[in-house]
Amino acid sequence: MESQAVSKGQKPHAVCVPYPAQGHINPMLKVAKLLHAKGFHVTFVNTVYNHNRLLRSRGPKALDGVASFRFKSIPDGLPETDVDATQDIPLLCESTMKHCLVPFKELLGQINAEDDVPPVSCIVSDGCMSFTLDAAEELGVPEVLFWTTSACGFLAYLHYYRFVEKGLSPLKDESYLTKEHLDTIIDWIPLMKNLRLKDIPSFIRTTNPDDIMLNFIIREAERAKRASAIILNTFDDLEHDAIQSVQSTLPPVYSIGPLHLLTKQEIDKDNEIGRMGSNLWKEESECLDWLNTKPQNSVVYVNFGSITVMSAKQLAEFAWGLAATGKEFLWVIRPDLVAGDVAMVPPEFLTETADRRMLASWCPQEKVLSHPAIGGFLTHNGWNSTLESLCGGVPMVCWPFFAEQQTNCKYCCDEWEVGIEIGGDVKRDEVEAVVRELMDGEKGKKMREKAEEWQRLAEEATEHESGSSKLNFEMVVKVLLGE
Ligand code: UDX
Repeated sequence: MESQAVSKGQKPHAVCVPYPAQGHINPMLKVAKLLHAKGFHVTFVNTVYNHNRLLRSRGPKALDGVASFRFKSIPDGLPETDVDATQDIPLLCESTMKHCLVPFKELLGQINAEDDVPPVSCIVSDGCMSFTLDAAEELGVPEVLFWTTSACGFLAYLHYYRFVEKGLSPLKDESYLTKEHLDTIIDWIPLMKNLRLKDIPSFIRTTNPDDIMLNFIIREAERAKRASAIILNTFDDLEHDAIQSVQSTLPPVYSIGPLHLLTKQEIDKDNEIGRMGSNLWKEESECLDWLNTKPQNSVVYVNFGSITVMSAKQLAEFAWGLAATGKEFLWVIRPDLVAGDVAMVPPEFLTETADRRMLASWCPQEKVLSHPAIGGFLTHNGWNSTLESLCGGVPMVCWPFFAEQQTNCKYCCDEWEVGIEIGGDVKRDEVEAVVRELMDGEKGKKMREKAEEWQRLAEEATEHESGSSKLNFEMVVKVLLGE
C-alpha cells in the first residue's frame, strides 16, 4: 500500500474500527460522529455479524449512511450465524486478532481505489483491535487507539504482565480463589491505591497459563505503545491519577469523555448523522413513557449490560430481592441473560409486582439514566453504564461481572463514593437491604449528592469552551491530521 497523507484541498478520511461488542461500538460511533463534525470523511467498519444485527435491530436502511459517512464490514473469522446473541468474547478476541488483518487491508485497498472518496488518512481503532496498527503503519497514516475502558481499568491491564512476572497470575490452582488470597493488597501499580487482587480486571484470576484473555490483554497492552495517541472515554477530574499513570508509559493519552455528553454538545441529534444508532438489540422506548408517570428519584433501574450472564437462581434472587423492597423498578432482561437457558423470572414474582414494575429486553439506556424518575441503578459496572449513571447523577448498587468491571466497582465504592457493592453470590435479603439503602438510606442520599457532583464536573469537562475533554478532543484531531 502506498503512503497516504491529507493533501491540500482534500478532506481527511478517518476509518473507525470498533471491537465488535456493544459496549465498544457505542462509544466508537460517538467518536466517529465527532470527527465527522470536524470535517472528516468517515468510514465505520463493523464485523459482518454486527452489521447484519444492526440491520435487524434498526431497520434495513440503518446503515445506508451518507456520502461522507459510510458503513463497511469485514468478517470476524468466526462461523457465520444469524442468532442475535452476545458472542463468546475469548473466541472473538482470538479470531479478530488472527483473521481480521487481511480483510481489513483489502477493505482499505478498495476504499483507496475509489474515485469519489478521499484516500484514507488516519485510523481510529479499538485498543483490542490492534491488528489495525499493522495496516496503518503499512499505509503510513497515524492511528489513534481507543481503549473503551475506564482509565483505572486500563491502567490495571497495562500492568498485567507484572502480575505474571511476580507469580501472582495465573493462580497456581483453584485453592487460591479464597477470600484471603483475593484480598492480597496490590500496592505497586503507580498512582493506584488500596487495591486488592479481587479488584483487578477479572482475567488475571485465571488458573490457566494459556488463558486466551490473559495473554490477549498483555499483548494488546504492549502493542498500544505503537499508536500515535491513545484516547479514553473518561474525564480528568474523575480519573486524574489513573490518567497520569497511564500517560507515563504510553504515547500521548487524551481523555475525551464522557462521550455521550460531548456528542450532545457537538452533534445535532435530529440530523442524519445524529440519528445514526448502534443498538444491536431492538430498543423498547415505551419505558420512557412509563418513567414519565413516576415521581422524581422513585424508580430503581436494573440492567446488567450486553455481556453479563447469570444463573437462573441468581436471576430469581434478584427478582425476589427487588420485590421485597416494595419499590417501583424498571428491569431490563436481555433474552440471553441467563447462561444456557431462556431468561425467565418466576411467574409469582410477575404477579406480585405487576403494579410497580416495567420489564423490557433492551432500552434506550442513556435516556433512562438521565430521566429524573430514576433514583438508583443496579448495575454490572460496565464502563459505559458507569459513566452514564454518573452523568445522570444516579448512585449505584454494583454487581460486577467480568473484565475491568471489578475495578470500576472498587472505584465507584471507594474513590468516587457513588456505589455500594453487592456480593457475587447474590442473595435476595442482601438485594433488598442494599436497594433500600440506595433509594432511602443515609448512605444512598450521600451517594446521590456525590453522583450529582460528578455529573456537574462531567458537564464542565464537555460543555465549557475550556473543558478538559473538549480541549483534548481538539488535540486528537490534530494527531489524526498529522499536525
Ligand atoms: C463491556 C465491558 O464490560 C465494559 O466495562 C467495557 O468497557 C466495554 O464492554 P457491556 O456489558 O457492554 O460492557 O456494558 P457497558 O460498558 O455498560 O455498555 C453497554 C452499552 O449498551 C451502554 O452504552 C448502554 O447505554 C447500552 N445499553 C445497555 C442500552 O442502550 N440499553 C440497554 O438496555 C443496555
